[in-house]
Amino acid sequence: MTDDVTEQAPVQQVQTEGKALEQAFERFARFSDPAALAKLNLETATAIQRELADVRTSRLGKKSAWASTKKLIGRVTPEERPVVGQLVQEIENRVVALVDTIEINLKSHIEQERTARESIDVTLPGRRPPYGHRHPITILRERIEDIFVALGYIIEDGREIETDFYNFTALNIPENHPARGEADTFYTTDGFALRSQTSTVQIHAMQRRGVPIRMIAPGRVFRRDTPDPTHNPMFYQVEGLCVDRGITMAHLKGTVTEFLRRMFGPDTVTRFRPSYFPFTEPSAEFDFSCFKCKGAGCRICKNSGWIELGGSGMVHPNVLRIVGVDPKVYSGFAFGLGIDRMCALMYELDDIRLLFENDVRFLEQFE
Ligand code: FA5
Repeated sequence: MTDDVTEQAPVQQVQTEGKALEQAFERFARFSDPAALAKLNLETATAIQRELADVRTSRLGKKSAWASTKKLIGRVTPEERPVVGQLVQEIENRVVALVDTIEINLKSHIEQERTARESIDVTLPGRRPPYGHRHPITILRERIEDIFVALGYIIEDGREIETDFYNFTALNIPENHPARGEADTFYTTDGFALRSQTSTVQIHAMQRRGVPIRMIAPGRVFRRDTPDPTHNPMFYQVEGLCVDRGITMAHLKGTVTEFLRRMFGPDTVTRFRPSYFPFTEPSAEFDFSCFKCKGAGCRICKNSGWIELGGSGMVHPNVLRIVGVDPKVYSGFAFGLGIDRMCALMYELDDIRLLFENDVRFLEQFE
Protein backbone atom coordinates (compact mmCIF):
# COMPACT_ATOMS: atom_id res chain seq x y z
CA MET A 1 0.00 0.00 0.00
CA THR A 2 1.42 3.35 -0.95
CA ASP A 3 2.17 5.92 1.75
CA ASP A 4 -0.13 8.61 0.39
CA VAL A 5 -3.29 6.57 0.94
CA THR A 6 -4.90 9.30 2.95
CA GLU A 7 -4.09 12.14 0.57
CA GLN A 8 -5.18 10.43 -2.70
CA ALA A 9 -8.79 10.07 -3.72
CA PRO A 10 -9.89 6.49 -3.09
CA VAL A 11 -10.52 5.71 -6.79
CA GLN A 12 -7.12 6.99 -7.72
CA GLN A 13 -5.56 4.99 -4.94
CA VAL A 14 -7.20 1.79 -6.13
CA GLN A 15 -6.02 2.51 -9.66
CA THR A 16 -2.42 3.07 -8.51
CA GLU A 17 -2.37 -0.11 -6.44
CA GLY A 18 -4.12 -2.05 -9.20
CA LYS A 19 -1.48 -0.98 -11.69
CA ALA A 20 1.30 -2.12 -9.33
CA LEU A 21 -0.53 -5.40 -8.92
CA GLU A 22 -0.84 -5.96 -12.64
CA GLN A 23 2.80 -5.03 -13.18
CA ALA A 24 3.88 -7.63 -10.63
CA PHE A 25 2.43 -10.35 -12.88
CA GLU A 26 3.47 -8.83 -16.16
CA ARG A 27 6.52 -11.04 -16.68
CA PHE A 28 4.29 -14.13 -16.42
CA ALA A 29 1.62 -12.81 -18.78
CA ARG A 30 3.03 -14.38 -21.94
CA PHE A 31 2.50 -17.84 -20.45
CA SER A 32 -1.26 -17.37 -20.68
CA ASP A 33 -0.64 -18.56 -24.24
CA PRO A 34 0.10 -22.32 -24.08
CA ALA A 35 2.30 -21.97 -27.18
CA ALA A 36 4.75 -19.88 -25.15
CA LEU A 37 5.22 -22.78 -22.74
CA ALA A 38 5.88 -25.40 -25.38
CA LYS A 39 9.61 -24.73 -25.48
CA LEU A 40 10.15 -24.81 -21.72
CA ASN A 41 11.80 -27.87 -20.26
CA LEU A 42 10.55 -29.48 -17.08
CA GLU A 43 13.01 -27.74 -14.80
CA THR A 44 12.31 -24.24 -16.14
CA ALA A 45 8.53 -24.73 -16.11
CA THR A 46 8.69 -25.97 -12.51
CA ALA A 47 10.81 -22.97 -11.50
CA ILE A 48 8.32 -20.55 -13.09
CA GLN A 49 5.43 -22.32 -11.39
CA ARG A 50 7.16 -21.90 -8.04
CA GLU A 51 7.93 -18.21 -8.69
CA LEU A 52 4.35 -17.50 -9.75
CA ALA A 53 3.00 -19.11 -6.59
CA ASP A 54 5.33 -16.91 -4.50
CA VAL A 55 4.28 -13.73 -6.30
CA ARG A 56 0.62 -14.72 -5.93
CA THR A 57 1.04 -15.06 -2.18
CA SER A 58 2.98 -11.85 -1.75
CA ARG A 59 0.77 -9.76 -4.06
CA LEU A 60 -2.68 -11.20 -3.58
CA GLY A 61 -2.39 -12.85 -0.17
CA LYS A 62 -3.80 -11.69 3.14
CA LYS A 63 -0.76 -9.61 4.02
CA SER A 64 -0.36 -8.00 0.61
CA ALA A 65 -0.63 -4.30 -0.27
CA TRP A 66 -3.63 -5.22 -2.40
CA ALA A 67 -5.40 -6.74 0.63
CA SER A 68 -4.96 -3.41 2.43
CA THR A 69 -6.23 -1.52 -0.60
CA LYS A 70 -9.38 -3.63 -0.60
CA LYS A 71 -10.09 -2.50 2.94
CA LEU A 72 -10.67 1.04 1.55
CA ILE A 73 -14.09 -0.15 0.43
CA GLY A 74 -15.24 -0.13 4.01
CA ARG A 75 -13.77 3.26 4.72
CA VAL A 76 -15.06 5.37 1.80
CA THR A 77 -18.33 7.33 1.79
CA PRO A 78 -21.50 5.45 0.88
CA GLU A 79 -21.60 7.34 -2.43
CA GLU A 80 -18.09 6.32 -3.39
CA ARG A 81 -18.45 2.73 -2.20
CA PRO A 82 -20.06 1.19 -5.34
CA VAL A 83 -17.52 2.81 -7.63
CA VAL A 84 -14.53 1.84 -5.50
CA GLY A 85 -15.95 -1.63 -4.91
CA GLN A 86 -16.54 -2.23 -8.58
CA LEU A 87 -13.10 -1.01 -9.53
CA VAL A 88 -11.44 -3.30 -6.95
CA GLN A 89 -13.46 -6.23 -8.21
CA GLU A 90 -12.68 -5.53 -11.83
CA ILE A 91 -8.94 -5.30 -11.23
CA GLU A 92 -8.90 -8.38 -9.01
CA ASN A 93 -10.96 -10.45 -11.42
CA ARG A 94 -8.67 -9.54 -14.28
CA VAL A 95 -5.49 -10.36 -12.37
CA VAL A 96 -6.82 -13.55 -10.80
CA ALA A 97 -8.15 -14.76 -14.14
CA LEU A 98 -4.76 -14.19 -15.72
CA VAL A 99 -2.87 -15.92 -12.90
CA ASP A 100 -5.33 -18.84 -12.91
CA THR A 101 -4.90 -19.32 -16.64
CA ILE A 102 -1.12 -19.25 -16.38
CA GLU A 103 -1.20 -21.70 -13.47
CA ILE A 104 -3.42 -24.11 -15.37
CA ASN A 105 -1.21 -23.90 -18.45
CA LEU A 106 1.94 -24.46 -16.41
CA LYS A 107 0.45 -27.39 -14.57
CA SER A 108 -0.61 -29.19 -17.70
CA HIS A 109 2.70 -28.47 -19.44
CA ILE A 110 4.63 -29.82 -16.45
CA GLU A 111 2.48 -32.95 -16.37
CA GLN A 112 3.07 -33.53 -20.07
CA GLU A 113 6.82 -33.06 -19.73
CA ARG A 114 6.96 -35.39 -16.77
CA THR A 115 5.02 -38.09 -18.54
CA ALA A 116 7.23 -37.75 -21.61
CA ARG A 117 10.33 -38.06 -19.50
CA GLU A 118 9.11 -41.03 -17.50
CA SER A 119 7.59 -42.95 -20.33
CA ILE A 120 9.48 -45.99 -21.56
CA ASP A 121 9.50 -46.84 -25.20
CA VAL A 122 9.11 -50.58 -25.01
CA THR A 123 10.00 -50.93 -28.67
CA LEU A 124 13.54 -49.60 -28.13
CA PRO A 125 16.28 -52.23 -27.84
CA GLY A 126 17.52 -52.74 -24.26
CA ARG A 127 20.82 -51.31 -23.10
CA ARG A 128 23.25 -54.17 -22.58
CA PRO A 129 25.51 -53.90 -19.57
CA PRO A 130 29.13 -54.18 -20.74
CA TYR A 131 30.57 -57.66 -20.37
CA GLY A 132 33.07 -58.09 -17.56
CA HIS A 133 36.44 -59.72 -18.04
CA ARG A 134 38.16 -62.34 -16.03
CA HIS A 135 41.16 -60.94 -14.21
CA PRO A 136 44.48 -62.09 -15.73
CA ILE A 137 45.32 -63.85 -12.46
CA THR A 138 42.02 -65.72 -12.65
CA ILE A 139 42.67 -66.69 -16.27
CA LEU A 140 46.04 -68.11 -15.33
CA ARG A 141 44.76 -69.79 -12.17
CA GLU A 142 42.05 -71.54 -14.17
CA ARG A 143 44.57 -72.76 -16.75
CA ILE A 144 46.74 -74.17 -13.98
CA GLU A 145 43.70 -75.80 -12.36
CA ASP A 146 42.64 -77.38 -15.66
CA ILE A 147 46.08 -78.92 -16.17
CA PHE A 148 46.26 -80.40 -12.68
CA VAL A 149 42.67 -81.63 -12.71
CA ALA A 150 43.57 -83.47 -15.93
CA LEU A 151 46.52 -85.01 -14.06
CA GLY A 152 44.17 -86.31 -11.36
CA TYR A 153 44.60 -83.60 -8.73
CA ILE A 154 41.80 -82.15 -6.63
CA ILE A 155 41.53 -78.44 -5.89
CA GLU A 156 41.66 -77.39 -2.25
CA ASP A 157 40.61 -74.06 -0.84
CA GLY A 158 42.45 -72.89 2.25
CA ARG A 159 41.95 -70.10 4.73
CA GLU A 160 43.77 -66.79 4.59
CA ILE A 161 43.99 -66.22 8.34
CA GLU A 162 45.89 -68.89 10.19
CA THR A 163 47.03 -69.91 13.62
CA ASP A 164 50.73 -70.19 14.40
CA PHE A 165 50.32 -73.94 14.23
CA TYR A 166 49.28 -74.06 10.55
CA ASN A 167 51.41 -71.16 9.37
CA PHE A 168 54.62 -72.27 11.07
CA THR A 169 54.73 -75.15 13.55
CA ALA A 170 53.13 -77.80 11.38
CA LEU A 171 55.38 -76.72 8.52
CA ASN A 172 58.41 -77.52 10.62
CA ILE A 173 59.34 -73.86 10.95
CA PRO A 174 61.25 -73.59 14.22
CA GLU A 175 60.27 -71.25 17.06
CA ASN A 176 63.08 -68.79 16.37
CA HIS A 177 62.75 -68.70 12.57
CA PRO A 178 62.81 -65.13 11.17
CA ALA A 179 59.62 -65.72 9.13
CA ARG A 180 57.69 -65.84 12.40
CA GLY A 181 58.69 -62.27 13.21
CA GLU A 182 56.49 -59.29 12.55
CA ALA A 183 59.03 -58.08 10.02
CA ASP A 184 57.94 -60.84 7.61
CA THR A 185 54.39 -61.80 8.54
CA PHE A 186 51.24 -59.74 9.03
CA TYR A 187 49.38 -60.47 12.26
CA THR A 188 45.82 -59.63 13.24
CA THR A 189 45.33 -57.84 16.56
CA ASP A 190 44.26 -61.21 17.98
CA GLY A 191 47.63 -62.71 17.10
CA PHE A 192 46.53 -64.73 14.06
CA ALA A 193 48.83 -64.73 11.06
CA LEU A 194 47.82 -63.83 7.52
CA ARG A 195 49.21 -66.87 5.77
CA SER A 196 52.53 -66.15 4.12
CA GLN A 197 52.41 -69.16 1.80
CA THR A 198 49.85 -71.64 0.53
CA SER A 199 51.88 -74.48 2.09
CA THR A 200 49.48 -74.18 5.05
CA VAL A 201 46.87 -75.96 2.93
CA GLN A 202 49.06 -79.09 2.85
CA ILE A 203 48.35 -79.51 6.55
CA HIS A 204 44.60 -78.82 6.38
CA ALA A 205 44.21 -81.10 3.36
CA MET A 206 46.05 -84.05 4.92
CA GLN A 207 44.19 -83.63 8.21
CA ARG A 208 40.84 -83.54 6.48
CA ARG A 209 41.35 -86.07 3.70
CA GLY A 210 44.18 -88.26 4.95
CA VAL A 211 46.54 -89.92 2.49
CA PRO A 212 47.05 -90.82 -0.30
CA ILE A 213 46.34 -87.37 -1.64
CA ARG A 214 46.96 -85.35 -4.79
CA MET A 215 45.86 -81.76 -4.53
CA ILE A 216 46.61 -78.24 -5.61
CA ALA A 217 45.63 -75.16 -3.62
CA PRO A 218 45.59 -71.79 -5.35
CA GLY A 219 45.12 -68.75 -3.14
CA ARG A 220 46.18 -65.41 -1.78
CA VAL A 221 49.12 -65.00 0.53
CA PHE A 222 50.51 -62.03 2.40
CA ARG A 223 54.03 -60.90 3.23
CA ARG A 224 55.51 -57.73 4.58
CA ASP A 225 57.33 -57.11 1.32
CA THR A 226 57.77 -53.56 0.07
CA PRO A 227 55.95 -53.18 -3.25
CA ASP A 228 58.22 -53.02 -6.30
CA PRO A 229 57.97 -54.31 -9.88
CA THR A 230 58.35 -57.96 -8.72
CA HIS A 231 56.94 -57.80 -5.18
CA ASN A 232 53.53 -57.11 -3.69
CA PRO A 233 52.49 -57.51 -0.05
CA MET A 234 49.58 -59.62 -1.34
CA PHE A 235 50.04 -62.10 -4.15
CA TYR A 236 48.84 -65.48 -5.37
CA GLN A 237 50.48 -68.85 -5.08
CA VAL A 238 49.55 -72.36 -6.13
CA GLU A 239 50.54 -75.15 -3.82
CA GLY A 240 50.84 -78.73 -5.01
CA LEU A 241 50.98 -81.84 -2.85
CA CYS A 242 51.20 -85.52 -3.70
CA VAL A 243 51.55 -88.12 -0.93
CA ASP A 244 51.36 -91.85 -1.49
CA ARG A 245 53.42 -94.99 -1.04
CA GLY A 246 56.69 -94.89 -2.96
CA ILE A 247 56.61 -91.28 -4.13
CA THR A 248 60.09 -90.06 -5.07
CA MET A 249 61.84 -86.99 -6.37
CA ALA A 250 61.37 -88.43 -9.87
CA HIS A 251 57.61 -88.02 -9.50
CA LEU A 252 58.12 -84.41 -8.47
CA LYS A 253 60.31 -83.67 -11.46
CA GLY A 254 58.02 -85.52 -13.84
CA THR A 255 54.90 -83.74 -12.57
CA VAL A 256 56.37 -80.24 -12.63
CA THR A 257 57.88 -80.86 -16.08
CA GLU A 258 54.59 -82.16 -17.45
CA PHE A 259 52.72 -79.20 -16.01
CA LEU A 260 55.13 -76.69 -17.55
CA ARG A 261 55.02 -78.45 -20.93
CA ARG A 262 51.24 -78.28 -20.96
CA MET A 263 51.43 -74.65 -19.88
CA PHE A 264 54.19 -73.34 -22.14
CA GLY A 265 54.54 -75.91 -24.91
CA PRO A 266 56.05 -79.40 -25.40
CA ASP A 267 59.63 -78.10 -25.88
CA THR A 268 59.78 -76.58 -22.41
CA VAL A 269 62.77 -77.73 -20.41
CA THR A 270 62.74 -77.73 -16.59
CA ARG A 271 65.66 -77.50 -14.23
CA PHE A 272 65.91 -78.04 -10.48
CA ARG A 273 68.42 -76.31 -8.22
CA PRO A 274 69.16 -77.39 -4.65
CA SER A 275 67.51 -75.12 -2.11
CA TYR A 276 66.16 -75.08 1.41
CA PHE A 277 62.63 -75.00 2.83
CA PRO A 278 61.92 -76.15 6.39
CA PHE A 279 58.98 -78.32 5.28
CA THR A 280 60.74 -80.23 2.49
CA GLU A 281 63.86 -82.36 2.46
CA PRO A 282 65.56 -82.37 0.05
CA SER A 283 64.36 -79.07 -1.39
CA ALA A 284 64.77 -77.60 -4.83
CA GLU A 285 63.82 -74.46 -6.68
CA PHE A 286 62.71 -74.98 -10.23
CA ASP A 287 63.15 -72.93 -13.38
CA PHE A 288 61.90 -73.52 -16.90
CA SER A 289 63.36 -72.58 -20.25
CA CYS A 290 62.12 -69.18 -21.36
CA PHE A 291 58.92 -69.54 -23.39
CA LYS A 292 59.78 -66.46 -25.43
CA CYS A 293 63.34 -67.10 -26.58
CA LYS A 294 63.37 -70.87 -25.94
CA GLY A 295 66.49 -70.51 -23.84
CA ALA A 296 68.51 -68.26 -26.13
CA GLY A 297 68.25 -65.28 -23.79
CA CYS A 298 65.91 -62.28 -24.01
CA ARG A 299 64.44 -59.40 -22.01
CA ILE A 300 61.89 -61.64 -20.27
CA CYS A 301 64.45 -64.11 -18.91
CA LYS A 302 67.01 -61.37 -18.37
CA ASN A 303 69.26 -63.07 -20.94
CA SER A 304 69.66 -66.17 -18.81
CA GLY A 305 67.41 -68.40 -20.91
CA TRP A 306 65.68 -69.54 -17.69
CA ILE A 307 62.71 -68.31 -15.70
CA GLU A 308 62.49 -68.98 -11.95
CA LEU A 309 59.10 -70.25 -10.95
CA GLY A 310 58.92 -71.66 -7.46
CA GLY A 311 60.07 -73.94 -4.69
CA SER A 312 59.59 -77.67 -4.21
CA GLY A 313 60.87 -80.74 -2.44
CA MET A 314 60.05 -84.00 -0.72
CA VAL A 315 57.61 -83.49 2.17
CA HIS A 316 59.61 -83.42 5.42
CA PRO A 317 58.97 -86.45 7.69
CA ASN A 318 58.11 -84.06 10.53
CA VAL A 319 55.28 -82.58 8.44
CA LEU A 320 53.88 -86.05 7.71
CA ARG A 321 54.17 -87.05 11.37
CA ILE A 322 52.33 -83.96 12.64
CA VAL A 323 49.26 -84.88 10.58
CA GLY A 324 49.48 -88.49 11.71
CA VAL A 325 50.99 -90.00 8.57
CA ASP A 326 53.79 -92.55 9.03
CA PRO A 327 56.80 -91.35 7.00
CA LYS A 328 58.12 -94.92 6.87
CA VAL A 329 55.05 -95.93 4.87
CA TYR A 330 54.24 -92.79 2.93
CA SER A 331 56.31 -90.19 1.16
CA GLY A 332 55.38 -87.22 -0.95
CA PHE A 333 56.42 -84.15 -2.83
CA ALA A 334 55.21 -80.58 -2.66
CA PHE A 335 55.74 -77.49 -4.72
CA GLY A 336 54.64 -73.89 -4.69
CA LEU A 337 54.78 -71.21 -7.32
CA GLY A 338 53.84 -67.56 -7.56
CA ILE A 339 51.06 -66.80 -10.02
CA ASP A 340 51.56 -63.02 -10.20
CA ARG A 341 55.10 -63.16 -11.47
CA MET A 342 54.18 -65.93 -13.88
CA CYS A 343 51.30 -63.79 -15.12
CA ALA A 344 53.59 -60.78 -15.53
CA LEU A 345 56.00 -62.88 -17.59
CA MET A 346 53.30 -64.35 -19.81
CA TYR A 347 51.69 -61.01 -20.57
CA GLU A 348 55.03 -59.18 -20.65
CA LEU A 349 54.07 -56.77 -17.89
CA ASP A 350 56.90 -54.68 -16.53
CA ASP A 351 55.37 -54.45 -13.10
CA ILE A 352 53.22 -56.90 -11.12
CA ARG A 353 51.61 -53.99 -9.27
CA LEU A 354 49.56 -53.32 -12.43
CA LEU A 355 47.60 -56.45 -11.58
CA PHE A 356 46.01 -54.85 -8.51
CA GLU A 357 45.61 -51.23 -9.53
CA ASN A 358 42.23 -52.14 -11.01
CA ASP A 359 42.60 -49.86 -13.98
CA VAL A 360 39.80 -51.04 -16.27
CA ARG A 361 41.75 -49.98 -19.38
CA PHE A 362 44.46 -52.42 -18.33
CA LEU A 363 42.15 -55.24 -17.26
CA GLU A 364 40.05 -55.09 -20.44
CA GLN A 365 43.00 -56.27 -22.50
CA PHE A 366 42.87 -59.83 -21.24
CA GLU A 367 40.61 -62.71 -22.14
C1 FA5 B 1 57.36 -70.56 -0.86
O1 FA5 B 1 56.50 -69.75 -0.56
C2 FA5 B 1 57.19 -72.00 -0.58
N1 FA5 B 1 55.99 -72.23 0.18
C3 FA5 B 1 57.19 -72.79 -1.87
C4 FA5 B 1 57.24 -74.27 -1.61
C5 FA5 B 1 56.08 -75.02 -1.58
C6 FA5 B 1 58.45 -74.90 -1.41
C7 FA5 B 1 56.13 -76.37 -1.32
C8 FA5 B 1 58.53 -76.25 -1.14
C9 FA5 B 1 57.34 -76.99 -1.11
P1 FA5 B 1 58.91 -68.76 -1.90
O2 FA5 B 1 58.98 -67.93 -0.68
O3 FA5 B 1 60.12 -68.88 -2.73
O4 FA5 B 1 58.45 -70.20 -1.56
O5 FA5 B 1 57.73 -68.19 -2.80
C10 FA5 B 1 57.25 -68.87 -3.94
C11 FA5 B 1 56.95 -67.89 -5.07
O6 FA5 B 1 56.11 -66.84 -4.62
C12 FA5 B 1 58.16 -67.17 -5.61
O7 FA5 B 1 58.85 -67.96 -6.54
C13 FA5 B 1 57.56 -65.96 -6.24
O8 FA5 B 1 57.08 -66.26 -7.54
C14 FA5 B 1 56.37 -65.68 -5.39
N2 FA5 B 1 56.60 -64.54 -4.49
C15 FA5 B 1 57.28 -64.49 -3.33
N3 FA5 B 1 57.21 -63.27 -2.78
C16 FA5 B 1 56.46 -62.51 -3.61
C17 FA5 B 1 55.99 -61.16 -3.60
N4 FA5 B 1 56.25 -60.34 -2.60
N5 FA5 B 1 55.24 -60.72 -4.62
C18 FA5 B 1 54.91 -61.56 -5.64
N6 FA5 B 1 55.30 -62.85 -5.72
C19 FA5 B 1 56.06 -63.31 -4.72
